Amino acid sequence: MEREFRERNEMIDFEKRFPGMNILPPAELRRQSCEIDRHLSKFRKLAAGSIEWHEMQQELGMMASAGLGPKLRALFYETTLPKCGKDLYVYPGVTFYFPYNISIGDNVYLNKNVSITARDEVTIGNNVLIGPNVVINTGNHTFSDRDIPIVKQGHTSEKIVIGDDVWIAANAIILKGVNIGEGSVVAAGAVVNKDVPPYTVVGGVPAKIIKIRGE
Ligand SMILES: CC(C)(COP(=O)(O)OP(=O)(O)OC[C@H]1O[C@@H](n2cnc3c(N)ncnc32)[C@H](O)[C@@H]1OP(=O)(O)O)[C@@H](O)C(=O)NCCC(=O)NCCS
Repeated sequence: MEREFRERNEMIDFEKRFPGMNILPPAELRRQSCEIDRHLSKFRKLAAGSIEWHEMQQELGMMASAGLGPKLRALFYETTLPKCGKDLYVYPGVTFYFPYNISIGDNVYLNKNVSITARDEVTIGNNVLIGPNVVINTGNHTFSDRDIPIVKQGHTSEKIVIGDDVWIAANAIILKGVNIGEGSVVAAGAVVNKDVPPYTVVGGVPAKIIKIRGE
């Protein structure tokens, strides 16, 4: 009973987040509600990072950017990540690798085809916008030994932290060990390999400060 109540509340939250739900005919609302319930019970059985988890991520990632797709994707990550706040919006094609190392705050938007590879921890703050095709990768292939193929040399990795109120624009790449300060903006196409100070705008390859936000 308590579980049903909680699931119902989650449903109401979705309706608040996706106002279009209110104008759906009752039969469609009921269908969506059943689909959400059905998926939720599946999500609860999935271990983040398992084969089944990745299969589900891929299946949900192919659903459209309106209707049930965003709701189910948000619910999937909210249910299975170690930490995921409320009001997550996920477009199609978003892919997480090593999801058990990914934490997400409240009110986060992940645009289409965002890819996050979290061999080490990735922490995303509150009110964060991540644009289309952004790549966040905590790892590098090791390549110091010329006598061993790179593919066999393993990886090094370092955590990435993205502060509150950050906007990472389209096609940017965030490399290992980077800390993106609160309130900063990463311009389209930037390759960020060093920490970004709070409230700065960085751009270019490698990314440099191009302006201070609000000045
Ligand atoms: C970063 C950004 C927001 C800055 O916009 P802005 O505040 O209007 O800044 P300006 O256009 O005045 O540019 C300021 C300086 O940064 C440079 N710059 C702007 N965007 C840049 C980029 N993507 N890469 C490198 N340099 C950039 C400009 O050339 C300018 O340099 P200059 O003063 O030497 O001429 C914008 O350029 C951008 O990248 N937008 C991303 C759009 C996007 O990806 N949308 C998807 C939605 S999530």
